[in-house]
Amino acid sequence: MPAPSPSQEVSIRLVVNDRARQIDVHAAETLLGALRDRLGLTGPKEACGEGECGACTVLVDGGPVASCILAAGSTDGRSVRTVEGLAGAGDLTTLQQAFVGHAAVQCGYCTPGVLMVLTALLEEVSEPTEADVRQALAGNICRCTGYQQIVEAALDAARAVAS
Ligand code: FES
Ligand code: FES
Repeated sequence: MPAPSPSQEVSIRLVVNDRARQIDVHAAETLLGALRDRLGLTGPKEACGEGECGACTVLVDGGPVASCILAAGSTDGRSVRTVEGLAGAGDLTTLQQAFVGHAAVQCGYCTPGVLMVLTALLEEVSEPTEADVRQALAGNICRCTGYQQIVEAALDAARAVAS
């Protein structure tokens, strides 16, 4: 059977932020494009578009991925979580509250991706070290904060969740 052309759409079913969704995507469409343009989830940002900066990071089946280089079609049957799915409307997670408290958000462009990798870390490691946090952030570029406030916010959030 010939491979689908890039403009040909396929229908996929996935769970996005705990909600079952069915969408049509082009064979060449990225998950980032599908989330932003088809589902209106504009939290994940596009910056490099090459998998290098982390601005587009979302969780797929609980693990961080660069959604700008992941084919939307490959998420058929999978679970996707974006920054919009971290807390209920008008609410903040403990990590998000810590970001506010530590002024860890400046321009905010990196923040959705940073929150996703740190959320995955805190779900996996209950008492992360500073080295754990910095390792988790290795793929996320922040041009504003120098990272220190982000690291302190993550460690504070981990302590708050553990106590
Ligand atoms: S926009 Fe995806 S990694 Fe930079
Ligand atoms: S807060 Fe501006 S890039 Fe991180």
